Amino acid sequence: MCGIVGYIGPQDATPLILNGLQRLEYRGYDSAGIAVLQKGEIAIRRDVGKLNNLMQLVQQEPLNGRIGIGHTRWATHGQPSSRNAHPHISANGRTVVVHNGIVENFRALRDELEAEGVRFQSDTDTEVIVHLVQREISCGKNVTEATQAAVKLLRGAHAIVVLSADEPDRLVAVRIGNAGGVALGIGEGEMFIASDIPAILEHTRRMIFLESRQMATLTRDAYHIQTLDGEPVDAEVHTISWDPVSAARGEYRHFMQKEIQEQARSLTDTIRGRVDFQRGVVTLPDLTLTPDEAKRLKRIVTVACGTSAYSGLVGKFIIEEIARIPVEVDYGSEYRYRDPIIDEDCAVLAITQSGETVDTLAAMEEARDKGAKLWSIVNAVGSQAMRVSDGFVTMQAGPEIGVASTKAFTTSIADQYLIALYLAQQRGLLTPDGPDMCAHIDDLAHLPDLVGTVLGREQAIEDLAAELYQYTNFLYLGRGINYPIALEGALKLKEISYIHAEGYPAGEMKHGPIALIDEHMPVLAICLRDAVYDKMLSQVEQAKSRGGIVIAVATDGDTRIAEKADHVIYVPDCPPLLSPIVSVIPLQMLAYHIAVWRGADVDQPRNLAKSVTVE
Ligand code: M6R
Repeated sequence: MCGIVGYIGPQDATPLILNGLQRLEYRGYDSAGIAVLQKGEIAIRRDVGKLNNLMQLVQQEPLNGRIGIGHTRWATHGQPSSRNAHPHISANGRTVVVHNGIVENFRALRDELEAEGVRFQSDTDTEVIVHLVQREISCGKNVTEATQAAVKLLRGAHAIVVLSADEPDRLVAVRIGNAGGVALGIGEGEMFIASDIPAILEHTRRMIFLESRQMATLTRDAYHIQTLDGEPVDAEVHTISWDPVSAARGEYRHFMQKEIQEQARSLTDTIRGRVDFQRGVVTLPDLTLTPDEAKRLKRIVTVACGTSAYSGLVGKFIIEEIARIPVEVDYGSEYRYRDPIIDEDCAVLAITQSGETVDTLAAMEEARDKGAKLWSIVNAVGSQAMRVSDGFVTMQAGPEIGVASTKAFTTSIADQYLIALYLAQQRGLLTPDGPDMCAHIDDLAHLPDLVGTVLGREQAIEDLAAELYQYTNFLYLGRGINYPIALEGALKLKEISYIHAEGYPAGEMKHGPIALIDEHMPVLAICLRDAVYDKMLSQVEQAKSRGGIVIAVATDGDTRIAEKADHVIYVPDCPPLLSPIVSVIPLQMLAYHIAVWRGADVDQPRNLAKSVTVE
């Protein structure tokens, strides 16, 4: 969680770092701070709450320097407050540190430092790091050596940046474990550090991603990367293809609204390049799967968290139906707390927008240790999940900044559809250019249009939100492949509007939740004209007969549902296996507009952060 930015170069570091932090604020917004080297001294500004408070403080008390570090915090140890905000500074004021992660042995280290006479100024675990680094500098080490020695004493996972006034021409960055990424941006005579690509994308597209137990020393013109044991590393420089404009909010009121509206385009980007429409073939070279391996594959286990896990539940239907391979879906946070059965004919597929979610990464490690082939579907290029996988498919969603995941959900489902086609092709179930393959490819080709049609109906959803926003409980029902959409719709509503919402398999309603239904309970039913249509219709009737307010997501032209439901949200008729991508969009828009009506902070909901890098 937490966002880190660092800069060294000829420009004024303050606006550059604040701008970067703005783009990382989704990672935490309990407090923010910045430190720059100003006339040979470290100058710090920190404030509790959102970045805006810090920006106002910097306006009142300006900073001026060419090298600096900044931080936006998601609190773990120590209340959100100004004194607990990063950066943290050494007692002599010469060294300053920003940190993402948890120092698991901080109590012991703090006791040790206090016994040596160090007086702590905050309640954070991070502060031990700066005192440890300073202790090493005071013994004659340079900042790189001092950081290297200090971080070896830390337990846990960390991303750390250190600035020392005694070496005003360098920044040191470290990554240990899965506390979040450290991207190094290589500019012309300037260098950048960030937790995530969008923070520095407008300055450079050339980036290096530190691996665990690597550290970098950056000067304006050069970088040196080594392991924590001092071995030099020849790191790969990635060229990021994301468009910097797509990382900005533009005309939209919120990133979430922008990202919802981007879905027709992001789906086009996901499909394009992977499907040869002429030859009727799907190509996924980065999955690194030989036809032999595809034939041997007996099982896929999907591991993911939150929205990505619901994407996996949809993918289960798609992969099982098209590729006829059994798929299990497990939460990343649960997977390693049992003894999962894995063998070499099993592939583990991690789905993660950020590629940094610590529980998903831990599940991947568990699977790797047990000998599974490891795949990932990721959005953040160069992320940890992508790097540790044997093969991957990118979402091509572009930067997703809103804490509520939207376009990553739909593009990751599209990716699973591509994986299903690819597997079926490799296993001989679908013949390239054969009629079945062509039908699937045709469905994919029309998907962005269908999505575009639903996106064009946002006004109707906004009007509906105005009628619903004061209710305090919602029930979402779905069946078959649209059951995970009920889960996702409910998750979207609760995380950004703080309304209690439950997603439920419609057929299970009579086994308990039906007792909840009364005239205060809106029931959102996904009731498309598909194989479970009649069953869903009878659930709608049951909810109505108990006095519930029924909102149905239905297929264009369905008049039967209009007679039963209180409100109908129409979506175009779509192929059943792709229908979740279409039916989820009105639910994303409904959650968004209800949250806006309630005055909630849509892009930065309370207690949440975009990348969950702590357990
Ligand atoms: O980056 P990931 O896809 O691994 O993130 C997983 C979840 O933390 C994420 O989907 C979360 O549930 C979102 N806030 C949902 O909108």
